[in-house]
Amino acid sequence: MSNLLMVASVTLRSLAPHAVELAYLIATGLFVLSLHWMGDPKTARRGVYAGAGGMAVAVLATWARPEVARHLWVLLPILAAIVPGIWLAKVPLTAVPQRTALSHAFGGLAAGLVGSAKFFYWLHHQPEMLTAFRTGAIVVEVLLGFLTFTGSIIAAAKLQEVKWLPQRPWVYKGQNVVNLLAFGVAAVLGALIVCFPHATWTPWAFAALIFLSLNFGWMLVMPIGGADMPTVIAILNAYAGLAAVAMGFVLDNKLLITAGALDGSSGLILSIIMCKAMNRSFFNVLFGAFGQVQTKAAGGEQKDYKPDTAENAAAILSEASLVVIVPGYGMAVAQAQHKVRELYDQLRRRGITVKFAIHPVAGRMPGHMNVLLAEAEIPYTDLVEMDEINTDMSQCDVCLVLGANDVVNPAARSDTKSPIFGMPIIDADKARTVFAVKRSKSPGFAGIDNELYFLDKTWMLFGDAKAVVGDLVKHLSPQSTH
Ligand code: TAP
Repeated sequence: MSNLLMVASVTLRSLAPHAVELAYLIATGLFVLSLHWMGDPKTARRGVYAGAGGMAVAVLATWARPEVARHLWVLLPILAAIVPGIWLAKVPLTAVPQRTALSHAFGGLAAGLVGSAKFFYWLHHQPEMLTAFRTGAIVVEVLLGFLTFTGSIIAAAKLQEVKWLPQRPWVYKGQNVVNLLAFGVAAVLGALIVCFPHATWTPWAFAALIFLSLNFGWMLVMPIGGADMPTVIAILNAYAGLAAVAMGFVLDNKLLITAGALDGSSGLILSIIMCKAMNRSFFNVLFGAFGQVQTKAAGGEQKDYKPDTAENAAAILSEASLVVIVPGYGMAVAQAQHKVRELYDQLRRRGITVKFAIHPVAGRMPGHMNVLLAEAEIPYTDLVEMDEINTDMSQCDVCLVLGANDVVNPAARSDTKSPIFGMPIIDADKARTVFAVKRSKSPGFAGIDNELYFLDKTWMLFGDAKAVVGDLVKHLSPQSTH
């Protein structure tokens, strides 16, 4: 019997590494499927479950590795992370970009700390482990990890519009040179550490590398305008992913390498999509100090808006055959999506076709409008992407611009001096009648006037989007006198 138990225990022990590798393979597969499923609203929920499942398998498999001996030390940080984790999961949808930035900050910090711990441990206990390849991976991990940490903290603070930080780009003469110099010194230090990992001065050089990386992160993000932060966050996402890849090489963990590569490349692809949808280059986002000078309405001349009432707007809406609603950042701020659903129901009840025109960068994060409208259970078949809806805009009787501004600004098509020139827009100006809902005469994210609001066919419905749409619903509902 005891022989049998011994054989079983030896067999289990010899199988354990294979089981862990198999679990890592399953986790990688789940991460790939997760990204694939999240690309479509129909399967997005499944994608979230697959991602969470993959992460659970990854954590449990790593925990089960034979070299993990002190289980309490694993349990403690997991328990400690649950509290902020739950708090972060409960932030409102408008705060998701800054929440994402905080997650990247934690990821970057973890990579930086693991890299530093490994370096000093190996230096003092197993110096032969510090080969050129491993030391190089540690340098990349620490540099990217710590710069992602401070860069993401600044990005989150700017998005949260905290009082102690200017939202506008913080610029000074020669800033790019100073930043490049800091990066250059960090790169030279990194190269020296790789060449001479066992020199007596290496610990000091390593400490200086950490110091420079921490400073380079915030210095890189400070000159960028608060409203460009979603794109910066996607770029920081790519850095965090690359830091995880480097960490995978340091720890000889294949799952970290594949998961980091997926994370890094998806961040990079996302930032490219966002730059393309804004007709901006990476260089312009990172070094363009966008949002710095466009604080006043372009041209300076005062134009008149034509305000209208919800009652009139409801009467015109009720006569339409095709209504296109263009949601924007204002709908998110007002949390008007459920009222929009009621409006959708009222119009549909009258046999009116209602479509939602979705601009790729409407709001402040990719898919912002899709998520809000899905929350209100508006069928995704009525959510139409920009290129597709633009072909129908000339047949549109009423276009309701709901807290959107830049994404419907015709200046993007015609005004070569406009900061948004070349950005693809939704052709709201081609509709027969336009109603625009916003609270005031202040501009949108780009800080410029919108010609659409001054067209003969455009009428303004001033007010909070939720309240205005609520009024429209009231006037359209069967109980109304209309
Ligand atoms: P914006 O151009 O930012 O305009 C939002 C409009 O909503 C403003 O005119 C504002 O006017 C109005 N608004 C705000 N709160 C409101 C409320 N409670 N009720 C009614 N209206 C309200 O929005 P957009 O058209 O969605 O464009 C998005 C911009 O963000 C683009 O320039 C894009 O390049 C930029 N951006 C987006 C992303 C992503 S990934 N989505 C990333 C980076 C940058 P009032 O203040 O007068 O109400």
